[in-house]
Amino acid sequence: MNIGSIALTSPFAIAPMAGMTDTAFRRLVKRQGGCGLVVTEMVSSEGLVRGIDRTLEYAEYTDEERPIAIQIFGGDPAKMADAARIVEGMGADIVDVNMGCPVPKIAKHNAGCSLMREPEHAAGVIAAMTKAVRIPVTVKMRAGWNDDERNAPTLAKMVQDAGAAAIAVHGRTAAQSYSGSADWDLVARIAAELTIPVFGSGDCIEPEQILARMDAGVKGVLVGRGVLRNPWILAQASDLAAGRAARPVTLEDRGRFLLDYIDLLLLERVDEARALSHDRWIINKLRALGSWYTKGLDNGSHLRTAVNTAESLAGLRRTIVEFFAVTAASWADDPAIASDAPQPIFS
Ligand SMILES: Cc1cc2nc3c(=O)[nH]c(=O)nc-3n(C[C@H](O)[C@H](O)[C@H](O)COP(=O)(O)O)c2cc1C
Repeated sequence: MNIGSIALTSPFAIAPMAGMTDTAFRRLVKRQGGCGLVVTEMVSSEGLVRGIDRTLEYAEYTDEERPIAIQIFGGDPAKMADAARIVEGMGADIVDVNMGCPVPKIAKHNAGCSLMREPEHAAGVIAAMTKAVRIPVTVKMRAGWNDDERNAPTLAKMVQDAGAAAIAVHGRTAAQSYSGSADWDLVARIAAELTIPVFGSGDCIEPEQILARMDAGVKGVLVGRGVLRNPWILAQASDLAAGRAARPVTLEDRGRFLLDYIDLLLLERVDEARALSHDRWIINKLRALGSWYTKGLDNGSHLRTAVNTAESLAGLRRTIVEFFAVTAASWADDPAIASDAPQPIFS
């Protein structure tokens, strides 16, 4: 399938998740296979236009992740058009607009899901952006603001007319936040009514669910929390789509993923000024992922507690190696781990 001129080799994608889907995580998921598109964490249009370092860091990506969409948020058409130009200048394949974030800090600035409350204005933002850049402009929205304003079908048509190349719909309202369940009937209805590709998002935890959602008529599925729990879910969905059994994932594979994540994060944000807090930043990243990754694992709550109380990277690695019974020499030779005798944590 295509989004504008950009070809996707798989219809399954990692949904944007602030604080979670950094470049290191995206690369690791992509390496497992089955992932046709990755989207950055949402990035402030204001921050991009003002050239704020931290904002630019959120938009960083590597070629390995292509095709890559950089998601921006904001509500001012001229600034969003400028930000889209910057995204294009950074070499991204797609610029995506966040019209789904329900967090008051974002929504009160006329951005995120509050754009859905002003459909004319929202369509104006997309029109300004599509005029400003040649890369495809896409939109990610919710079902609407609340139960009285479930206007995604109308807004979807309006942004299509304004030049959007694809849309993604998370079938919950902003008022719902993450409660209840995503309304995939609404998503399927929108998919049937639009001529541009429509992606659905919400509540796919098992690879079989991804396939079932495709059968409902969407062109692709964005998977969020399911990827945080199981980074192989897109590869497994691809296996099923090809008529194969979903690949098995061993406990050791799961441990290795976390160790690889630490290794990639060690190469990120390594500028001298932050060197002292770099380990702490990585530990916090692993804690954030751990709260999802440990769900459904036997003894997952023990692992979660151990990750949350780890005080050093060496201790964190040891915890992972022991819990997941990682055996290969890749970690045993690592002086950061070998320096201390391993403590049996899970007996
Ligand atoms: C921790 C977290 C952060 C999120 N951040 C973003 C974001 O930055 N931009 C966005 O469009 N959606 C964001 N979402 C929504 C997801 O992209 C997705 O649409 C939603 O979680 C429903 O899909 P799921 O049930 O597969 O997780 C976030 C969701 C979570 C759980």
